[in-house]
Amino acid sequence: MGEEPLKFKPGLLSYKGLNLIRNVHKESYLDSLPEIEIRDSDIFVITYPKSGTTWMQYVLALMFHSDELEGDHNKHAMRIVPWIEVEMDHSTTRLPRLFASHLLPSLLPQGLRKRGKIIYFARNPKDVAVSFYHFHNVSRLLEDKEDFNTFLEEFVEGNVFVSSWFDHVKDWYSQMDNFDMLFFTYEEMKKDLKRTIVKVSTFLKKSFDEETLNMIVEKSSFSNMQLTPNANLDTVSPDLFDSSKGRMLRKGKVGDWKTMFTVAQSEKFDKIYKEKMKGLPLEFVWDL
Ligand code: A3P
Repeated sequence: MGEEPLKFKPGLLSYKGLNLIRNVHKESYLDSLPEIEIRDSDIFVITYPKSGTTWMQYVLALMFHSDELEGDHNKHAMRIVPWIEVEMDHSTTRLPRLFASHLLPSLLPQGLRKRGKIIYFARNPKDVAVSFYHFHNVSRLLEDKEDFNTFLEEFVEGNVFVSSWFDHVKDWYSQMDNFDMLFFTYEEMKKDLKRTIVKVSTFLKKSFDEETLNMIVEKSSFSNMQLTPNANLDTVSPDLFDSSKGRMLRKGKVGDWKTMFTVAQSEKFDKIYKEKMKGLPLEFVWDL
């Protein structure tokens, strides 16, 4: 009733086995991605959805192009660290070029195997599932989800945007040696923001004086980012996000899954997790 018509029809597009978003991700452009030239200074943040991408986009923007976050022509962190899978003219991007991606190794520019750096940011899948569920109701690109149990089944099956969390994490983790890559977790960053930011900057060979470092830590805290329009959804087109239904920076906690999962859902998930992640020397923190 009285709802304005959507410019984008929500729905998924299966591209080479990976669920992307119809009307946002274009097959002809995706086909050209593996050949896109990579520079030594390129930096990619790669995530499964709802793992803290916005957080890393904001940290990278603060580290490298903080002037673009300020002033009359300030940009949203998402524009300073754009999605490589969304068509744009990358040649005009300022150096170092910063990109975000949800793609798998085989779909990204293959030059990344020789040049550039990758930050893979992972989050425990129970918190991802809860954050993702809420996000479906905020994003106008994804279908609304009413029932968490149905969504959880779709999530476990990989019938969601970016397909299976398990496959994404396993694929990237097992290919770590093929890239210049730092793999770390949302939980680690949540536990000690400053230490993690130092770790990221060391990996990127970028040093900061103590004052700048403290500024980055302070600005990228959840409470500050929640109030910052160009870190949140407030300045992003209402065609993409309905910010009356929720915020990008929703709770920002480790263990929020406990407010949604029943004991039965949690036990069932643990079993599936154990089976699917068998043999991978990777442990997630489920609560802090
Ligand atoms: P919640 O929905 O659990 O709050 P993405 O950017 O990949 O879509 O991930 C969004 C999730 O990252 C949201 O989780 C959001 O709150 C969280 N997040 C973003 N910035 C954060 C910050 N500075 N500190 C903690 N969590 C943050």
